[in-house]
Amino acid sequence: QIYSRIIATGSALPERAVSNADLEKIVDTSDEWIRTRTGIRQRHIAADGETTGDLAFLAAQRALEAAGVKAAELDLIVLGTTTPDIIFPSTACLVQQRLGANGCAAFDVNAACSGFMYALGIADKFIKSGQSKKALVIGAETLTRMIDWNERETCVLFGDGAGAVVLEGSSEPGIHATCMHADGGYKELLWNPVGVSAGFRDEPNHGVRIKMAGREVFKVAVKTLDSLVGETLEAAGMHEADIDWLIPHQANLRIIEATAKRLQMPMDRVIVTVDQHANTSSGSVPLALDYAVRSGKVQRGQNLLLEAFGGGFTWASALLRY
Ligand code: ACO
Repeated sequence: QIYSRIIATGSALPERAVSNADLEKIVDTSDEWIRTRTGIRQRHIAADGETTGDLAFLAAQRALEAAGVKAAELDLIVLGTTTPDIIFPSTACLVQQRLGANGCAAFDVNAACSGFMYALGIADKFIKSGQSKKALVIGAETLTRMIDWNERETCVLFGDGAGAVVLEGSSEPGIHATCMHADGGYKELLWNPVGVSAGFRDEPNHGVRIKMAGREVFKVAVKTLDSLVGETLEAAGMHEADIDWLIPHQANLRIIEATAKRLQMPMDRVIVTVDQHANTSSGSVPLALDYAVRSGKVQRGQNLLLEAFGGGFTWASALLRY
């Protein structure tokens, strides 16, 4: 039996941090409203010209360096994003070229905020099947490019960033279980309904903006994550007490707290970065994981439960021994 193991992590954030107080100057909001509703205090925003691929490349470089793996050793790159640099080639191909990993399989996965979790699940299968030996999995996003800065309901929630992991085949676990789901019936609760084939609109930013029914998304997210974590424990043959750390998608502190409660986990066993990063979509889980590893919170041999929920709706998880 071959397992896939995370051998190292990396992440990258744009330099510019924007506080809630900064946003008070551009929309009718308050630090108090944002903090109490979401837990967010600040977010990082990509500079003009700084792309998803730039952040992904930096995160990947840091993960490879920490792993002691050369880019040429990679045989697979899977990158979760909803905000690719260009329509094609995929951002995975752009990053592959910059890393010097030319020749290996490289593709993007669009599963909105669950993009990294989908990418991890896919790479896990490639390694388990023996097709890949060393894989790079990235979640990277510049979601603020889709933001209408006049719309207070959405503009306070999101940030930019990227995280990456290097996966390797191993006889030791490793990833115990991954779960993946989607329900396109919910598309209109959280979406961006313009694009190449459907066409763009004669509106600011060509109609590219996030449309969200926040309260409905919140309710479905809590309920769905509740059953997702149960399913993941069952798939791994584990119990709540076996989990050392919950590393959730960082959209809203109240959603995170609800999942922690379902798992009977105290909040000091939950990695929270939403206060610093806001919702970075596909970047959120690998950014939180890298923070957890580099701050020394997560130790080798511990069991981590990673999960995400996003537009589609999509939802996905992984339970792994770090
Ligand atoms: N500042 C001040 N007031 C605001 C703001 C703001 N930025 N945004 C909305 N409001 C107002 C609204 O106009 C509304 O006012 P009204 O009551 O007079 O009509 C009121 O605040 C809305 O309040 P609630 O509906 O009680 O807000 P809620 O507690 O649901 O919080 C939020 C809203 C934060 C969007 C929450 O529903 C949420 O986080 N939902 C999940 C959405 C999410 O996370 N989406 C990200 C992508 S999906 C994912 O990653 C999980």
